[in-house]
Amino acid sequence: MEKKINLTINDKEVSGRPGMTILEVAGENGIDIPTLCHIPDLPPIGACRLCVVEVEGSRTLVGSCHTPVAEGMVVQTHSPKVIATRKVLVELMLASHPDACLVCDKANICELRRIAADLEIGLPRFRTRKHYYPVEDENSGMLRDMSKCVQCRRCVVACKSPGGEPLFGMAYRGFDSKVVHGHDQPLGSESGENCDACIEICPSGALQKVRKTGEERADRALIIKG
Ligand code: SF4
Ligand code: SF4
Ligand code: FES
Repeated sequence: MEKKINLTINDKEVSGRPGMTILEVAGENGIDIPTLCHIPDLPPIGACRLCVVEVEGSRTLVGSCHTPVAEGMVVQTHSPKVIATRKVLVELMLASHPDACLVCDKANICELRRIAADLEIGLPRFRTRKHYYPVEDENSGMLRDMSKCVQCRRCVVACKSPGGEPLFGMAYRGFDSKVVHGHDQPLGSESGENCDACIEICPSGALQKVRKTGEERADRALIIKG
C-alpha cells in the first residue's frame, strides 16, 4: 500500500502521497490557493509567489506549488500574513499594469483581475513605472501585448512549438526583464502556427487570438444572454 503523509491544513487533518506539493494536497481537499504561474502536470515555475502559505516552524512563507508535503506539517493557507503578502504582490502587478481593463478583450475572464477581486483589491495603493510596448500584430494567429504581461512564464514553459524550439524565453534584468521571442524580435508571420497552447494559459491579456476588435466581448455577451 502506498505510504500516506499526514499533515494539517487550516486546522483540518489531511493526507497526501509522497512527492505531492502543499498546493496539490490543498486542492484535493477543496482548499483554493491562488496561483498565477502554476500549470498542473508541468514542473513548478515559482515566478509569481501568489501561492505562498505559512508553515509552522518556517521563518519565511513558502511557495506551496513547489514545496512537498511532509509528515506532521502544519499549514495555514489564508492567515492574515499570507493574505497581506498576496495583496501586496497583486497590487504591485496592477501598479505596473496598463489601466486598460475597460477596453481589454480579456476583461471579466482575466485571471489577474479575478484574483485581485478575490483579494478585495480595488485601486492599487502603489504607483510604479509602467511598461508600454508596441502591440505585435504581424502574426496571423496571435496578438501579443507585452505591456499586459505579468511575467508568470507560463508561455515559456508550456510552448509546444512544432520544431521543438520554444517560441519564447526570458531576457534582460530588473525593470527591463521581459518575455521575448528569439533575440527580442517581433513574432514573425508564421511563428506558432496551428498551436495556441500559450494563449490558452496566459493569465492576462498579453497573448490573445487574432480576432476583430470586440469580437471576444461580443461572444461572451451572447454566452451570458444564453
Ligand atoms: S489583462 Fe486583465 S488586468 Fe490587464 S487590462 Fe486586460 S482585463 Fe485588465
Ligand atoms: S505573456 Fe502571458 S503567459 Fe507569458 S509570461 Fe506574460 S502573462 Fe505569462
Ligand atoms: S503558483 Fe507558486 S509561485 Fe506561482
